[in-house]
Amino acid sequence: MRPPIDSGTVLITGACSGIGRELARQLAHRARTLVLVSQTVERLEALRDELQLSNPTLGVVLLACDMSRPGEVGDMLAELSRHFLSVDVLVSAASVAEPGLFAEQRWGCIERMLMANVVAPLLLARRLLGPMLARGRGGLLYVSSGAGQLFLPGAATYAATRRCLDGFIESLRLELEGTPICVTQVAPGPVDDTRARAVGGLQGTRPFFEVSAAQCAREALAGFERGVPLVYPGRGHRWVMTLLPRLPRAVRRVLGRRVARALHPPAGAETPVLPEGSRGPLEAGPSLA
Ligand SMILES: NC(=O)c1ccc[n+]([C@@H]2O[C@H](COP(=O)([O-])OP(=O)(O)OC[C@H]3O[C@@H](n4cnc5c(N)ncnc54)[C@H](OP(=O)(O)O)[C@@H]3O)[C@@H](O)[C@H]2O)c1
Repeated sequence: MRPPIDSGTVLITGACSGIGRELARQLAHRARTLVLVSQTVERLEALRDELQLSNPTLGVVLLACDMSRPGEVGDMLAELSRHFLSVDVLVSAASVAEPGLFAEQRWGCIERMLMANVVAPLLLARRLLGPMLARGRGGLLYVSSGAGQLFLPGAATYAATRRCLDGFIESLRLELEGTPICVTQVAPGPVDDTRARAVGGLQGTRPFFEVSAAQCAREALAGFERGVPLVYPGRGHRWVMTLLPRLPRAVRRVLGRRVARALHPPAGAETPVLPEGSRGPLEAGPSLA
């Protein structure tokens, strides 16, 4: 069973930049309608113009939604009904990634990550799956992260949200076996051309297994269409992610401890601890991603 992308209605969260934007570009020649979601519609207008220029028959609906507010997710779905749109494929690519030491982060920041990265994707699946099952067609493509498989000091909440999504997607996929609903998780490592990387603490460094957002989107869609449960985009990242989980947990702790030590320099050392709200080395090198 292939996901109903062709001539279907595809809803993409996190569409205004990075991997979500690339997925929108690659789907623009296949879908009938793209529903693009971002926190503000203005950020999506240039992308809508670009997509309609490349495919004048494409319908594009722009919706504003802060995924960290479940009420807004409900409002966004209600808005879809007002457009008489049934979603055939959900592409969930929005996420909030705020690194920082857990003990120093504001609860509001932690809660935003939990809401946007866990509650919103589950809420969307819960609300969209029923109609998909009733119509006998549908697909869920989740852009998660390799971080879900790792220990990430300095980004404990983000790692927890990605691991939670991993458990959810794999379990849901099994529940849906034998139905026409396709479920795929994409778990990238470092991805270039994304806002997270541009703002992040990795300027000047390029892990050998980094891929472009376009390659990530291409491999994600290819895996989704082949019914692959979990896609690790890029050969190098695939290699790292195949190897890492095979290492004994104690060895993975040692790797994580090296990262943790860098976050807690000895007294008198210059290196600062990640400040509240700062963007640190998320998805960084082999020890992180
Ligand atoms: N970049 C990497 O190296 C990397 C590595 C592994 C996994 N990933 C995963 O890939 C996915 C896409 O990330 P990306 O790197 O392409 O990131 P990005 O360029 O930073 O884009 C993140 C997207 O999420 C949206 N977003 C952020 N907060 C939101 C909120 N509260 N409500 C609604 N939308 C929100 C942003 O749009 P607005 O702010 O305009 O709403 C933006 O479109 C994420 O799930 C991320 O965890 C990325």
